[in-house]
Amino acid sequence: MIAAAAAPHIPAYQHLALPAPAWLLVTLSTITFWIHLIFVSAVVGISCILLLRCLLLRNRSEIDRQINSRALRSLPLCISLAINFGVAPLLFTQCLYGPWFYTASIFIAPFWLAVLALLLIGFISTYLARLKQSLIGFICTLLMPLAFIAILYIMTNNSVLTIQPEHWIEFHRHTSALHVPDPIVGPRLLHNLAIIITLGGLAWAWLSRSKPAPDSQLTQTNINRHATRIGLQYFFLGLPLQIAFTIWYLQTLPKPLQSQLLHTSNSISIIWYASLFLIGLALLTGIVAAFKAAGRFSLAITTILTALSLAGNLIVRQHIRTYYLSRDIAGNLDIYNPNSTTGWQVQNHNSAIIAFAILAVICLITIIVMLKLVRSRPAQS
Ligand code: HEM
Repeated sequence: MIAAAAAPHIPAYQHLALPAPAWLLVTLSTITFWIHLIFVSAVVGISCILLLRCLLLRNRSEIDRQINSRALRSLPLCISLAINFGVAPLLFTQCLYGPWFYTASIFIAPFWLAVLALLLIGFISTYLARLKQSLIGFICTLLMPLAFIAILYIMTNNSVLTIQPEHWIEFHRHTSALHVPDPIVGPRLLHNLAIIITLGGLAWAWLSRSKPAPDSQLTQTNINRHATRIGLQYFFLGLPLQIAFTIWYLQTLPKPLQSQLLHTSNSISIIWYASLFLIGLALLTGIVAAFKAAGRFSLAITTILTALSLAGNLIVRQHIRTYYLSRDIAGNLDIYNPNSTTGWQVQNHNSAIIAFAILAVICLITIIVMLKLVRSRPAQS
């Protein structure tokens, strides 16, 4: 238990103002974070699957080589997009939760900086892993998922430390350097990983589909069928893990928050149950997609349902953050109420939000065109 004397000092923010209403910034933060996690899932999921396939498949057939090569070649683009879509929620989170987020980030500053080194290691490894049948190729295939999972661990601790100022004292006294000694960290980390495996399997099913290499006897239907089957295996592996870790995570949350999530009469619990329902539906359409592996329709429906379920999860995650920061020990932040003494003032800067909206649309169109160009390239054996 934390003694009253150890109550953390929350930096003052009442003299500052948000540039737009909190609900708008929270919405934009959630949407951009959702896109960040989709690309993160592609990066972590595909690099983990590549490592497992490298360890499990001793003699690779031509089709396996082509699929692996295509998946590997999609990684640099996915990493770049994951990083770019990490910047947007970073800016919104700094804006909305600066006093808590900055403090937590400063406590783990060496690890935040290590993220840059880890990203570089992961990024370079995606190129060197193409050196087939060599020790460097194998080491890089191993380094890729390790570097990305290390980042995931840092990010999860950063998020938990942001919402739990009661643990700042341990970092101030240097009894913790990165790991937040709280029961929610383990299940939250595994919950994040399971979501990433589920979505990563789907990312594999899409991104390792390709036209056959020019000198190959394979047909595109063969490649698509094989790519989908492999991706869906990991999707089916991630789903039960996701459900199991979600239940565990739920049990480690404070009791009042648990009852808010499980009680069916409020909007947040409806979103929570809807998100579970969507993932159940995704399981059914995933089974259909496994039978019609060459087609795209059932796979597309499965992907949309899973992505929507993730969106529901992120709305619940936002509610969890709102709950934690509204506690006495966190300074009673009343994020949506500008009239509260523990809320944010608002001074609208409409031009900044309009510029953001225009740039976001241009970026999304550019990304869609880029992805189409990448997918139209044939695979290499
Ligand atoms: C491939 C590397 C990365 C991985 C695997 C990764 C993974 C994650 C995960 C799992 C979370 C959720 C943690 C939680 O709440 O429990 C997260 C949050 C976050 N990530 Fe990343 N991330 C990566 C790169 C980045 C980069 C480069 C940035 C910044 C430019 C970034 C910015 C953020 C921010 C700001 C959040 C918190 C968002 C919020 O609280 O609303 N991430 N990341």
